[in-house]
Amino acid sequence: MIDIEDQFTQRERAAAEFILGLRRQWATVMYPALVGEYERAAESVASPSEVRDAVHALPSYPWFSYMERLQQKMLWRLAADVILKRRDDLLDQLPERERPDGVASLKLDPDLTLPSWYTDYDIHMQPGGVYSDILSAYVYQFGARIVMLRQNDNLRFHRLFVDSALPDVKAATRVVDVGCGFGKSTQPLASRYEGAEVIGIDLAAPVLRLAYALAEEAGAAIRYLQADARSTPLEAGSCDIVTGTMVLHEMPEQAIIDTVAEASRLLKPGGHLRFLEFQLTGDPMRDVTIEEHAERNNEPYFHSLFASDLPAICRAFGIRDARWQAFDERSGGVSSSGWGERPEWHLPWSVLSGTKEGQ
Ligand SMILES: C[S@@+](CC[C@H](N)C(=O)[O-])C[C@H]1O[C@@H](n2cnc3c(N)ncnc32)[C@H](O)[C@@H]1O
Repeated sequence: MIDIEDQFTQRERAAAEFILGLRRQWATVMYPALVGEYERAAESVASPSEVRDAVHALPSYPWFSYMERLQQKMLWRLAADVILKRRDDLLDQLPERERPDGVASLKLDPDLTLPSWYTDYDIHMQPGGVYSDILSAYVYQFGARIVMLRQNDNLRFHRLFVDSALPDVKAATRVVDVGCGFGKSTQPLASRYEGAEVIGIDLAAPVLRLAYALAEEAGAAIRYLQADARSTPLEAGSCDIVTGTMVLHEMPEQAIIDTVAEASRLLKPGGHLRFLEFQLTGDPMRDVTIEEHAERNNEPYFHSLFASDLPAICRAFGIRDARWQAFDERSGGVSSSGWGERPEWHLPWSVLSGTKEGQ
């Protein structure tokens, strides 16, 4: 398959490098400078609202916020330009239905109604999200590489999630990855659980079409299904593992609860639930800037994730030993010792894990 970046002109490559450089500067230079400003200005703040007010009063905070939105807008603009220019070639790569001789499978549901909470916002500021235009999957694919500061190239981050969140789970017969996008966690799951039936589920047809094409290219027998993670067509008690990466924070509170309930319904007794998300760090200044990433990056349901007691929700639906653990992509992934010292801006990745009762 064509990878859009292999076709970049010198000008396009320069533009992509510029946006990546801007983002790195913002995370590694601008954020620590903001922290320094906060430490000098706010020695005596105590309550969470005082911390918020103190952060808002920092001279650099409007710039820090503006720079995040600006680089995001530049990124989507560049992605749209480079992809639309190659529209026909890229469309040719995205089959509408599965190939009769293929190893992977694709089942789209043109009658699926997308929930309004999903279509009301351009998540991540990506115009039209990942559901409204077939090419939006490529836009998201390219954009996510830059947003992750190229640290997830070759799915390094998602492979680390699969390996470190399921270290002792060596075998499975059925694995389901909800909110799979174009398969960044589904592919590593298929490599790790060779011979298992691996199913990726998403609301959006464009990402599923790209996921299917990538699976075909990799020779991975993954089943992709267009469905809602809150109510899938799969049989109860049929799965050894249910995962989701970076999906719960895109849902309002009730949808998060419904998704956990559905994951529990799907799991066999003793089956494993793993979701890669974010959690607040306990550092008040950092946490204000993390919570407000919701507004800066059009991710309104970040707040629902932080307000939800997910271990308690898991327990209510028969998932035992539910807990959050920090995930540090710089080292071994899931970590029992927190995120460690990190001066730069980063999303505090965390893994929610638990086991279905009954075994
Ligand atoms: C940020 S992307 C993450 C994709 C992929 N898991 C990854 O790690 O790259 C979130 C994905 O979840 C999907 N999604 C959101 N709500 C969903 C739901 N209720 N059911 C299925 N998919 C959903 C979106 O369409 C999107 O593809």
